[in-house]
Amino acid sequence: MNRKKIRLGVLVSGSGSNLQSIIDHSEKDQLDARISIVISNNPDAYALERCRRHNIPAAVLDHRAFPERADFDRQMIEILHASGVDLVVMAGFMRILTPIFFRAFPMKIMNIHPALLPSFPGLHVQQKALDYGVKFSGCTVHFAEEGVDTGPVIIQAVVPVFEGDDEKILSERILKEEHRIYPQAIQYYAEGRLEIIGRTVRVKSSGKIEAASLVNPPVTIT
Ligand code: GAR
Repeated sequence: MNRKKIRLGVLVSGSGSNLQSIIDHSEKDQLDARISIVISNNPDAYALERCRRHNIPAAVLDHRAFPERADFDRQMIEILHASGVDLVVMAGFMRILTPIFFRAFPMKIMNIHPALLPSFPGLHVQQKALDYGVKFSGCTVHFAEEGVDTGPVIIQAVVPVFEGDDEKILSERILKEEHRIYPQAIQYYAEGRLEIIGRTVRVKSSGKIEAASLVNPPVTIT
């Protein structure tokens, strides 16, 4: 189909499975978006191999070469602007960004996080969820603001935590949902359906989900 596509700049640091999901949805023409540039701060990121396989332009910006965080951010901004990026998508990007970066792309930066924010921001959050003993966890796509894993929530997926889960099993259960909700959030954005009202993101004409509630473990009394 010949719809107008927005241009994405995707920031990665590691495996890039979320990047892969965006690539796959885009190649199947399920996204009104195409990836203009991928930037990795890690020269060894497997995400770079994914770019090679799919002929996607990629830049390596090794943060260790920059004495100041702000210099690294300025360089990223330059590359993203040169690629005409409409939306910045952080997909497993493990660097803290400075205010300079947020000012360059106001409410045009998305992030995905493997927890139900605002619970468990930061690192190793699947293990933290297990240690806390929560019965549900999940993932969140949000507009990124200054701070770590913070900003208006666009979409969340909930997964149950079962007895016997370890970090790997729970991470995989969450990651499967990440791969569904990130392309969806990008598509909502591309369709112009996201309206930010204070802290709340309204998704125009999204309808309502069926589930009235989720309980884990099950309620067996009436
Ligand atoms: C994903 O689980 C993503 O949510 C997480 O890093 C992983 C990257 O996987 N991001 C964060 O924790 C950000 N705070 P991927 O490289 O395979 O997409």
